[in-house]
Amino acid sequence: MKKVLHVVFLVSLLFATMLGVAYAAPPQQTGQEYTVQADDWLSKLAEKNYGDVLAWPVIWKATQAKAAEDDSFAVIPDPNIIEVGQKLWIPDESEAAALLEQFAAERAAASVEGSADITGELNLLCVVDLEWCEGMVFEFNKLYPGIIINWVRMSSGESLTRLRNEASDPQFDVWWGGPVDSYIAAAKEGLLEPYDSPNAVNLRDPNLMKADDNSWFGIYVGSLGFATNTNYLAEHPEVQAPTSWAELIEPQWKGQILVAHPSSSGTSYTHLCTNIQLKGEEAWDYERALAANVLQFTKSGSAPARFVGAGEAAVAIVFSHDIVAQIEKGLPLKLTFPSEGTGYEIGGTALIKGAKHPDLAKLWIDWALTPAAQELGPKYSAYQAPTVIGAEPSKPELLDVKLIDYDFEFCGSNKKDIIDRFTNEIANAENLKQ
Ligand code: F6P
Repeated sequence: MKKVLHVVFLVSLLFATMLGVAYAAPPQQTGQEYTVQADDWLSKLAEKNYGDVLAWPVIWKATQAKAAEDDSFAVIPDPNIIEVGQKLWIPDESEAAALLEQFAAERAAASVEGSADITGELNLLCVVDLEWCEGMVFEFNKLYPGIIINWVRMSSGESLTRLRNEASDPQFDVWWGGPVDSYIAAAKEGLLEPYDSPNAVNLRDPNLMKADDNSWFGIYVGSLGFATNTNYLAEHPEVQAPTSWAELIEPQWKGQILVAHPSSSGTSYTHLCTNIQLKGEEAWDYERALAANVLQFTKSGSAPARFVGAGEAAVAIVFSHDIVAQIEKGLPLKLTFPSEGTGYEIGGTALIKGAKHPDLAKLWIDWALTPAAQELGPKYSAYQAPTVIGAEPSKPELLDVKLIDYDFEFCGSNKKDIIDRFTNEIANAENLKQ
């Protein structure tokens, strides 16, 4: 399983590269030929040659350049597909650095120009925080003023239920935001329409950040953390902000923890599936003990950070970017991470099967996969890391923590059963705090 830590690594590499090549001579084609073997793919070869799965565009671009001058090399139209026996060009490290920089610059420049001539209606199911939903609708409308966007914000679980209920007559065209666990579950149920977006090529790690059949694409990455109210800490010198999952079930936090319910919230489902991966069957005893310390389960995943910031409880389990957003807004919160390792999300986007306005939905998805769209987040208090090359994370430190090897396929495929078990054995989803 690939690690999201590579996102941070690639960003550093890109920065280093940009600085390094500013005065460098034009790239020479130095390197070696390689013949594709069974089970090879570009990211695997990138890892083998450069120690970084995310350097795959280097081999792709270098082989394209070779193919233009030497017909023993073939053009690779889709970097996800290479054929056994095909020749590739593996540049040496200095050429690789220059090519990576060139690719990042091309991706950054490949932003959508927009058009006033495209008209129609687009129904958007938005799962990120309200401020970001509103902001992105506004930004998309700046590019496409002729498109009327009808949108609704819902948490992940609610939105999945809505898509299931409307499967025979979908009311939404495009789904944007929320961890991809729900997208994987939806794709398995036939609720999504694969779409071969031309901008999928922008993704840093296509193996991890999109479905094999293009039924969903990753648009951001974020890690789970804990938010502790600093006033509470000052008033209770005997306690410290938690730095482990284990501490959260200690008696000192009884009635002091807020977290969303995994049936409604993708954030909370990420926390639940993280603990299942960390502890196996014992996770259920852990969750039972944690529930005994929870003041109340909330509906939305990010809400606990606000409530804890307002002093309603001491600790929230929330995505770290949502904690940073509240700290930037002035709430008295301290961000910590669990030492055992934390889970992370890839936020998704997808075309909904049976969408009534598929062309406009595709336009939204293409735009969502551009660096220009992904760099808008911080303007709307969204500090998730981008998934595309050419967009830089605003808070790279949020992924520079101990991450577990989160298994999206497992968590997505088993979402319904895991949530049913949580609801039946741990806590039902009645009386969720709004
Ligand atoms: O926009 C904030 C955010 O935390 C996203 O990063 C995440 O995908 C989404 O909200 C999850 O929301 P919920 O937990 O309510 O489903």
